[in-house]
Amino acid sequence: MKKTTQNKDVIILAVESSCDETSVAIVKNGREVLSNVISSQIDIHKLYGGVVPEIAARNHIVNIDLVADKALNEANLTMSDITAIAVTYGAGLLGALIVGVNFAKALSYRYNKPLIAVNHIEGHICANYIAHADLKPPFACLIVSGGHTALCEMTSYTTRKLIGTTTDDAIGEAFDKVARECGLAYPGGPNVEKQALLGKKSINFITKPHEKLKDFNFSYSGLKTAVINYIHNKRQKGEEINVPDVCKSFQDEAISQVVFKSIEACKKFGFKTLALAGGVSASKALRAAAEAEGVKAGIKVVYPPLVLCTDNAAMVGAAGYFCYIEGKNIASNLSLAPSSTVAL
Ligand code: KG4
Ligand code: ZN
Repeated sequence: MKKTTQNKDVIILAVESSCDETSVAIVKNGREVLSNVISSQIDIHKLYGGVVPEIAARNHIVNIDLVADKALNEANLTMSDITAIAVTYGAGLLGALIVGVNFAKALSYRYNKPLIAVNHIEGHICANYIAHADLKPPFACLIVSGGHTALCEMTSYTTRKLIGTTTDDAIGEAFDKVARECGLAYPGGPNVEKQALLGKKSINFITKPHEKLKDFNFSYSGLKTAVINYIHNKRQKGEEINVPDVCKSFQDEAISQVVFKSIEACKKFGFKTLALAGGVSASKALRAAAEAEGVKAGIKVVYPPLVLCTDNAAMVGAAGYFCYIEGKNIASNLSLAPSSTVAL
């Protein structure tokens, strides 16, 4: 039987295709996920050691209609129940974004529904509203993904103030490079985490330079290079590399930097809640370290469930909802263009 929705309910059909996940979700009133279908291309890109943009775009084209159909079916709704369409317009791989954006534009035009352009990172942040019904701005948010490492103050549901950002590489990128050097499969982060569970922190790659810096910016290129140099040196000497120890030593250092800076910022600016967002927030080691330091400082640490940490459309539906009710980011279904980079 078809589900009934209240007239005042805002039902968002959301589309995400910025990287290698084709996803469509139906989200009610920004916090309730009616369906969240994710078609992952990981097994294809694994063969190449990373995401191949052209292959990602082609697979989005193959998948997107079926994924959207499944999302509506699982929610037990039809297009007439949908209030608005939300789509990630950036940041991401341009060819991949074009598929989702054009699909959303066509739906918006055909069914005469408003179109909302969503910043992918805002989506990651808003995954926390789905997971924590009582979470309200202001709070601090640490965004850690393959392309971002940033700390923000969420000043409202749709606005934020940057507190710190990476001056070079993103933390997820460092995880992925270290994984590749260690011969671990793509995506690197989860595999580094698995290896780290078997290892000891026996290698001192770098001695906490972030604790001496007075600002809240991050840096990962020094740590990444230290790990790569260590591995190359060992190889040149024909010595064995202890992959679990390399992973554990790198991971502890990588995590301690974001946790240290985030907790210090919360203390300085008086935030009582720190939310984690983005693919790297799937790291159990990061969650545990942030929670442990949070307890010491009297700061509540929250994060989304694993399925909402990595790329998915439900988070885009949550972000789209808050834009919709505030009348922000309403886009043209004829001219919305994707963008490979978007300011945080
Ligand atoms: O948010 P996301 O899915 O895509 C981007 O928007 O970038 O994040 C992907 C990143 C990758 O660098 C991946 O290695 C990392 O998140 N990641 C992890 C873990 N799971 C995913 N990093 C560390 N530990 C994990 N368990
Ligand atoms: Zn992402």
